[in-house]
Amino acid sequence: MLRIGNVQLASNLLLAPIAGYCDLPMRLITRQLGSVGLAFTDLLCPHGVIKQNRRTKWLMATSPDDQPLGMQLYGNDPKLMAEAARWSVDHGAVVVDINMGCPVDKVTKTFAGAMMLCTPDVTTRVVDAVISAVGDRVPVTAKTRLGYEADELTAPALARRLVNTGIQCLTIHGRTAALRFKGSVDLDGIAAVVDAVHDAGHGRVPCIGSGDVRTPFDATRMIEHTGCDGVMIGRAALEAPWIFRDTHQLLTTGAITNELTLRERVEVIRQHFDHMRSLRDDRFALTIIRQRISAYAKQLGPCRQLRHAIRKLADANAMDGLLDTFLYNVGSAVDAVPLTWEQRAKQWNQPGRALACKRA
Ligand SMILES: Cc1cc2nc3c(=O)[nH]c(=O)nc-3n(C[C@H](O)[C@H](O)[C@H](O)COP(=O)(O)O)c2cc1C
Repeated sequence: MLRIGNVQLASNLLLAPIAGYCDLPMRLITRQLGSVGLAFTDLLCPHGVIKQNRRTKWLMATSPDDQPLGMQLYGNDPKLMAEAARWSVDHGAVVVDINMGCPVDKVTKTFAGAMMLCTPDVTTRVVDAVISAVGDRVPVTAKTRLGYEADELTAPALARRLVNTGIQCLTIHGRTAALRFKGSVDLDGIAAVVDAVHDAGHGRVPCIGSGDVRTPFDATRMIEHTGCDGVMIGRAALEAPWIFRDTHQLLTTGAITNELTLRERVEVIRQHFDHMRSLRDDRFALTIIRQRISAYAKQLGPCRQLRHAIRKLADANAMDGLLDTFLYNVGSAVDAVPLTWEQRAKQWNQPGRALACKRA
């Protein structure tokens, strides 16, 4: 099974950092469903980490059942990054990840995120400082993209440098920064980075593939095509946090049995909502569930009324009633699988389908 430095993972499937989505309630519900090897916080600003402002405090919030947890930092100031890394490890991180792939202007204009693909000397200094600060306690990892532009696929060269500097795992999202989330993931591009990491690390440093894993079959395809040691799943987990459980089953037994029934999928929504209420408050839970219900609805079969009702929900105490009424009205189909992964894969093959994502 996959090991990152001194951290042994229960599976080779990782929950991606997705800014604005993969907070503590989301990570907990996903872990509860099983087979998440490692999960990450959203990307964290080192100033926010050190000052512990309200927003970063929430982004860093964790609990004993939220392990193993990686905290992801972005920035290009070695001293600041080192200090934030120390803070992260003191507050629950068993992996510190450095973001080298974020294409958002707010991040790249500070020469962080994907810009680090263009400045390998600075990038190496940041990695070196973070490893000096926390490398004797936890593994330091990085997540990047294939390059900044299509004609500058710098990731393999950067990967070799990072491994030689002491990075213990690299995650590669198979798109360039310029592409953001457009087009399809480039599996050959991922394979080139996997080879670079394996060569430089003499097979001891794992490389994780990321991008467009929408069903368990996509994960199998990515591993077979690229030779990556594990797969990171992001947007598909927002629709089906049980994708890790089913993917792990497919990878280990060759088949997926016992897919979640409609009743079980609805219970996932109920529990996610309950986690949000108990870990934050009703207002937060209502705001978030109104946004997330469209993603969940894609895995429920026909549920227009429920979707509309949740979008208009004003009282958190009414959620249970809404879900119970929905289940009651569905009748005996509540104990059937509303949409299998096979069916979902067929839907994806139709033209014009895109994964749900606000920041594409
Ligand atoms: C809205 C959004 C926010 C993201 N935030 C982060 C982030 O904070 N850190 C990071 O490394 N990647 C981030 N990503 C990239 C994902 O981790 C992942 O690499 C990418 O979405 C491809 O995987 P997927 O197709 O499984 O979603 C984000 C992606 C999206 C869509």
